[in-house]
Amino acid sequence: MNAHGVNDHIILLGFMGSGKTTVGALLAARLARQFIDLDDCIEAAAGRRIADVFEVLGEAAFRDLEAKALTDLLAKADTPLVIALGGGAFAQQRNRESIAAARALTIFLDAPLDVLKERCAGLLHRPLARDPERFARLFNERQPLYRLAAWTIGTGSGTPEDAVSAIAQRFDSGL
Ligand code: S3P
Repeated sequence: MNAHGVNDHIILLGFMGSGKTTVGALLAARLARQFIDLDDCIEAAAGRRIADVFEVLGEAAFRDLEAKALTDLLAKADTPLVIALGGGAFAQQRNRESIAAARALTIFLDAPLDVLKERCAGLLHRPLARDPERFARLFNERQPLYRLAAWTIGTGSGTPEDAVSAIAQRFDSGL
């Protein structure tokens, strides 16, 4: 039995490289919803790229901007959205609380570390993906928190369209 309905926001979460943005945009198109990437909201609010926010303001300031972008988004949304979080957002308790208060459906996009490493290699716009040891440590620390999501969908293999189909099917049949 699925407690979620067509009016609930769908929130995609998972580590860097798990496909949140790609799957989210495709899923939104499939469900005829608006897609919002939380990192874009943060950049718009800060007037800087994420990497600059980390560099100039530091990670703590980034996390505050992230939490505010999420609460603002959830407060203002007047239609059910598909939202892609940044990889660290769901690891923050305050964000998990905002999401629970909004009764959003949370979906963890689950992929193994080696696949994520490969996908993020050389992409310098992700400040937390530059140091391989830190990348692996964050991955391990966050796994139990990601698993608090309502649903888990594997994105380590297959195409983004496969993941979208799996989500859409489950969403349709669960209402
Ligand atoms: C972060 C992931 C990034 C972005 C920021 C921090 C993280 O988002 O929010 O660089 O802490 O894992 P993506 O997961 O979309 O790359």
